[in-house]
Amino acid sequence: MTSGAAGHVVVTGGASGIGEVTALALIDQGVAVTILDASAAAIVRIEDRLAGEDVLALTCDVTDEEEVAECLSQAVDAFGPVTGLVNCAGIARDIPAEKTSAEIFRQILDVNLTGSFITCRACLDQMGDTLSIVNLSSASGIRANAGRVAYGASKAGVILMSQVLANEWGASGVRVNVVAPGPVDTPLISNLHTIDDRKRWTAQIPLRRYGRPDEIADAILFLLSDQASYINGHVLVIDGGFSSSGILAGR
Ligand SMILES: NC(=O)c1ccc[n+]([C@@H]2O[C@H](COP(=O)([O-])OP(=O)(O)OC[C@H]3O[C@@H](n4cnc5c(N)ncnc54)[C@H](O)[C@@H]3O)[C@@H](O)[C@H]2O)c1
Repeated sequence: MTSGAAGHVVVTGGASGIGEVTALALIDQGVAVTILDASAAAIVRIEDRLAGEDVLALTCDVTDEEEVAECLSQAVDAFGPVTGLVNCAGIARDIPAEKTSAEIFRQILDVNLTGSFITCRACLDQMGDTLSIVNLSSASGIRANAGRVAYGASKAGVILMSQVLANEWGASGVRVNVVAPGPVDTPLISNLHTIDDRKRWTAQIPLRRYGRPDEIADAILFLLSDQASYINGHVLVIDGGFSSSGILAGR
């Protein structure tokens, strides 16, 4: 972290994309990291990559309350109380509302919203003197992007959930903040966006490009750190200007 480097940060979805880059950046700063990810294959890959580092990588589905509690108690045994949590575990679909079944809608809310809530609560139970939580929302949680009825609802929910937690837990030494990225080049987005989607999105972003995972990780590390000690309940939008813009200027 940029200051107060000691600590133990749990990163969900930490075996891929934004979570992976965040976990690596934390490790670089001397922070002990626990990665929780539902993909056993991705956990094996990251364990190999990080052999010898202060890291615990566990296969864990964030929608499973008992599994999360068990993994966290293992993590606390290894590295002590939790001082930070980054909720990157997430799934996305890009489908019109009329083709979105209730099952898909529930599944996306379950992982992105309920899963984030479950890990927030579990880390509260295992926290040190202070706890800094960063939850991943999305530009689709603040703007009504077509094809994102379930994903957008889940990410809008992450914002309000985080703000209620920031309110209720602030007096206990817990800060809860949100980052809301626009499109970022990760495995999630390469599975989701076609070449045409990329053209449409890029044309709508003032910076005319997708974000990089390290640009999101930098903001996450700042919000986790003591440099952000009075920031609580904030939504940091990182989208190249997408969600604040109307008609774009010609080049
Ligand atoms: N990439 C983007 O453009 C973008 C934009 C805005 C927000 N986000 C959000 O950022 C977060 C990280 O996205 P990413 O692009 O790095 O995705 P990614 O697919 O590269 O990584 C997500 C990880 O979450 C894990 N995961 C999925 N379901 C899980 C579950 N039930 N329990 C535990 N782990 C689970 C996956 O196995 C994967 O390793 C997500 O919440 C995503 O919605 C991404």
